[in-house]
Amino acid sequence: MNLIVLGPPGSGKGTQAKLIADKYGLAHISSGSLLREFATGDTPKAKVIRDLLRTGELLPFETVLEVVGARILEAKQGFVLDGIPRNKAQAEYMDTYFRENKIEVDLVIYLTLSDQEATTRLTKRAAVEGRSDDSEGVVKERLSVYHSQTQPVIEHYKTAGKLLEIDGAPPIEVIFQDIIGRLADKFPQQ
Ligand code: AP5
Repeated sequence: MNLIVLGPPGSGKGTQAKLIADKYGLAHISSGSLLREFATGDTPKAKVIRDLLRTGELLPFETVLEVVGARILEAKQGFVLDGIPRNKAQAEYMDTYFRENKIEVDLVIYLTLSDQEATTRLTKRAAVEGRSDDSEGVVKERLSVYHSQTQPVIEHYKTAGKLLEIDGAPPIEVIFQDIIGRLADKFPQQ
């Protein structure tokens, strides 16, 4: 089973993707986590990525693909892709990439959440974890990038008949049960 998780910053993409991946034995591929991990390195390229991540803007897609690289192709048991695609150009690129590599994306899980609740969650995380892009101004920028660039991707997958919309506001376990219940309806063989 190959899944994509989409949603605004703070909607729980990483949290739910990990739970789903653990339950079904899939690879959790998070572009944000892999970029943050790469950015801890002591190389000029790591520093460039570190600086770009602090802005809340999208990074050049070539850089993202370089870091996420072979992970998708290595995921022979299936994957949960979290953080890609982020705009229509990336969605179209990934359609071709999947087609050329004979990979079928079964479903795109879209977690919905208000900007207000997203901001509350990320402000809380900023105090606990100190992620460089969780400061108030950068969260605003990330939400703005999401609405202008990533939200149109939702329509792309709706048109393709692949979209599963999930309310991202309830507690983590309630959302997870909602997702696995819906996956069981759609893929009873899993
Ligand atoms: P990325 O890491 O993908 O950041 P994001 O989309 O802003 O998402 P977050 O990780 O903040 O939130 P999430 O939805 O995963 O929620 P989470 O589970 O963490 O990307 C970071 C940056 O990398 C981008 O801004 C961009 O610069 C770059 N990038 C990445 N991919 C790219 C691409 N394809 N192209 C170009 N650039 C790219 O949860 C958030 C918090 O809420 C946690 O503290 C969690 O514990 C809590 N929480 C989760 N669920 C709940 C719940 N149900 N109730 C209460 N709290 C909850």
